[in-house]
Amino acid sequence: MGMAMYSDKVMEHFMNPRNVGEIEDADGIGEVGNPVCGDMMTFYIKVDDQGRLSDVKYKTFGCGAAIAVSSMISEMAKGKTLEEALKITREDVAQELGGLPKNKMHCSNLGADALHKAIQDYLEKRKKGGESHGR
Ligand code: FES
Repeated sequence: MGMAMYSDKVMEHFMNPRNVGEIEDADGIGEVGNPVCGDMMTFYIKVDDQGRLSDVKYKTFGCGAAIAVSSMISEMAKGKTLEEALKITREDVAQELGGLPKNKMHCSNLGADALHKAIQDYLEKRKKGGESHGR
């Protein structure tokens, strides 16, 4: 038990998470809570003219696995098209991380769900009249 159950990659992302933070003028925001443990995660995205994710940031109020998952998924999503990013699954993330312990798989749900929700948020805002880039 303890930390030894995590892969080196999980530990590395947990100790040194990438892209942490908030995007103030985000094009899309997705927030999800984990019903299993009550932890929360919020993803922020910027979308460029090509429909690619030019920036991805997040805030995670969760366990070490959730932090590693958000860090990894932010790296995987950056530069991808919305369509590609919507196809990233929790299994993809867990695999990229070199696996997650079974009892921590629920933590990986948060990352993909929050990212997908941020993309939906962006798509919905755009549908509703497009004006979301004004300052
Ligand atoms: Fe809550 Fe991992 S225990 S996200």
